[in-house]
Amino acid sequence: MLTGLETRDFAAASEPFSLFQSWFDAAQKSEPNDPEAMALATADANGLPNVRMVLLKGIDSSGITFYTNSESAKGRELQANMQAAAVLHWKSLGRQVRLRGPVEIISAKESDEYFASRPRQSQIGAWASQQSRSLESRFALERAVAKYAAKYGFGEVPRPPNWQGYKIVPFYLEFWAEGTFRLHDRIVFRRHTELGAWRQERLYP
Ligand SMILES: Cc1cc2nc3c(=O)[nH]c(=O)nc-3n(C[C@H](O)[C@H](O)[C@H](O)COP(=O)(O)O)c2cc1C
Repeated sequence: MLTGLETRDFAAASEPFSLFQSWFDAAQKSEPNDPEAMALATADANGLPNVRMVLLKGIDSSGITFYTNSESAKGRELQANMQAAAVLHWKSLGRQVRLRGPVEIISAKESDEYFASRPRQSQIGAWASQQSRSLESRFALERAVAKYAAKYGFGEVPRPPNWQGYKIVPFYLEFWAEGTFRLHDRIVFRRHTELGAWRQERLYP
């Protein structure tokens, strides 16, 4: 529920990323599962929207980062249309954050570093999964996992070339806080260019 203190936080914020980070930190403490879960919407070349969950892996003033397979449906949609929207909902806090904007591919170095931090089984899984392509049987996936586990033995598993990080560089960020009797609070931050100044306004719920 929105308290007076949060309302003051909104009013005082001149940019949205620190507020996003502070809500995200609060969600890490209060959400029972996956506070990083974010619904990611993309659109294909015909403009048909698509949406699925991904994990939010970074928030900073340059944008919001997630990782995926560039040959997946979302990867191909992004290739055709480098723009996305995303939403996170934390039930335990009664809060929602929405964002929209162009998407950039992060540096190979940054993707390498994150990939290296993942559990070994997840690294093998990234090699084994041709994400979103037709899979003939569960056994075929297990065979692919066994193949890459054998290939990389006990050494370091390199990042697959089609597995990388993307960054949404938002021009629109909205903070929604649940209020009583559906009188929720909505604060929007907008800017016109990547380095432009943020303009803040409140919306009717
Ligand atoms: C909570 C949750 C988190 C997920 N995180 C990711 C993720 O970070 N990256 C990813 O590629 N898929 C993730 N997935 C799987 C995607 O939702 C989706 O099934 C997959 O990426 C294929 O989507 P696409 O065919 O639209 O590309 C996650 C699923 C759930 C339910």
